[in-house]
Amino acid sequence: MPLNDPVIAEQTPAVDFTIAQKWDRYSQDEHDIWNSLYAQQIDVLKGRAVPEFYHGLKALDLNLGGIPDLSVLNPKLKALTGWEVVMVPHLVPDDVFFTHLANKRFPAGRFIRGRDQMDYLEEPDVFHDIFGHVPLLARPVFADYMQAYGQGGLRALQHDCLKNLARLYWYTVEFGLMKTDAGMRIYGAGIVSSRTESVFSVDDPSPNRLHFDLERVMHTDYRIDDFQQVYFAIESFEELFKATQQDFGPLYEKMSRDKHIHPITDILETDQIYTKGSQDYANAGGRRA
Ligand code: PHE
Ligand code: FE
Repeated sequence: MPLNDPVIAEQTPAVDFTIAQKWDRYSQDEHDIWNSLYAQQIDVLKGRAVPEFYHGLKALDLNLGGIPDLSVLNPKLKALTGWEVVMVPHLVPDDVFFTHLANKRFPAGRFIRGRDQMDYLEEPDVFHDIFGHVPLLARPVFADYMQAYGQGGLRALQHDCLKNLARLYWYTVEFGLMKTDAGMRIYGAGIVSSRTESVFSVDDPSPNRLHFDLERVMHTDYRIDDFQQVYFAIESFEELFKATQQDFGPLYEKMSRDKHIHPITDILETDQIYTKGSQDYANAGGRRA
């Protein structure tokens, strides 16, 4: 919990959990942390992130320096896709999160990590949330996917199938890769905002890299404590959007009867394999945290 952020502590969140950013209250040191993270990620992502990510950074002028001021960022984002970023004090309940997405609002943490957490932190901060998630929200098809995800989340809550839908988010929005003509590229926010996983996810021989398959992903376990042992790659955002346009009702129906979960290292006969991983990193005990 970012309890050391006084601008969060002094506010009573609204019913939708939002707070004011109060951009003037960020210290120079906080802006410097953003700038260090930004410079580091631009460097490490060279040749590793999808072109759409860079287009978004540029279209939204996220390179101006310092933590973005929402009153400057939001008009640009709104003009492109109708989305806006809102600030929240900490992770919000699932239904609140889905309602924001369904209404084209992306909830971002206000606080920024400290210098002792440059490589890894447990709760998303403003760098992960804005640098990681917002550039792709400038891309109409991805923005539409996120909105549909929010609407779908509200439905999944009613079907008691949230776990399945959460796995879809994990393996796409957070840890998704894209197979492009130029090679494997990153689009997931959890990777794009991480110095070490940016390299690991595309270059390391350890993890499996499989073609994305909706039902397969919804039945696959994931880990939150270290680098992923499997990544799923789409070939385009259009592919992802199309695959998720179908009515999930029948899928949820099936899932409520068939609750099997594939272990993270499994490769199935039906999988389309890009890279069969050695799992050397995980077998050696990992080391990220
Ligand atoms: N099509 C899904 C449904 O019927 C909603 C959804 C869209 C979920 C996109 C995730 C991503 O519930
Ligand atoms: Fe995230």
